[in-house]
Amino acid sequence: MKELDRLAPPGTPERATLDGLDLTRLPRHVAIIMDGNGRWARQRGLPRVEGHRAGIRAVREAAETAARLELEVLTLYAFSTENWKRPGWEVRTLMGLLREYLQRELDVLVSNGICLRPIGRLEALEPDIQQGLAKAVEATHKGTGLTLQIALNYSGRTELMDAFRSAARQAAGGELVADQIDEDWISGQLATAGVPDPDLLIRTSGELRISNFLLWQIAYTELHFTPVLWPDFRASDLIRAVADYAHRERRFGGVLSGGHGPDVGED
Ligand code: FPP
Repeated sequence: MKELDRLAPPGTPERATLDGLDLTRLPRHVAIIMDGNGRWARQRGLPRVEGHRAGIRAVREAAETAARLELEVLTLYAFSTENWKRPGWEVRTLMGLLREYLQRELDVLVSNGICLRPIGRLEALEPDIQQGLAKAVEATHKGTGLTLQIALNYSGRTELMDAFRSAARQAAGGELVADQIDEDWISGQLATAGVPDPDLLIRTSGELRISNFLLWQIAYTELHFTPVLWPDFRASDLIRAVADYAHRERRFGGVLSGGHGPDVGED
């Protein structure tokens, strides 16, 4: 049971946003497309790398806030399979920041009860990053609070392609028949197996795209687009987004939960 005093102490601006909300309506799983690091740097006449560095601070704040709000899962899109197309120096910078993050943030993750779960084709990452991830997963696996999924070398289509390939291999080996493939089976083949689908997807920086993120999992996810650039995304922005979500009526293709009769159902 969530208690308001624990989530947002009285007198804080966050409390004002959450006051009066039905806390059982907060999302279980929030996914974020972190966008706008480059523009944030350009606006300040700084090199792009400084935008990514400032983005790490926003990652820390989002994870701490999600843990404090007692969300179950936060999924962050940190590096897509398409991001390899960026200039070599920028890819190296992002990988360097990931290395730093894994070294510096481990204590913060553990002390917040956060359990780290990297998703994506991790085998293509540098061996020392794979080791850093494995170490962080091991160090945080007892975390009973938030699951922090960090998508690295991830794309929704690649994830689905891998699932189709696995299905074909299992069928060829006689371990799978066509009728066994249902929605649950497919969900279980994905990198996110075992966690609920995102309730809320946030994209920063004003872009209105999904960019190959969690394509299967977001079938009924509520979308929240904000013009705030990722390095400027604060705890208050996340809290506003989840509070906005708590007011929405989700239908999952059916009718409003109040029930308006069979002729008014819309997606
Ligand atoms: C988009 O900004 C952001 C990314 C490509 C990467 C996000 C990465 C971080 C926040 C830092 C690394 C994260 C972790 C967890 C270690 P952009 O460069 O596309 O911005 P722009 O569209 O304004 O150019």
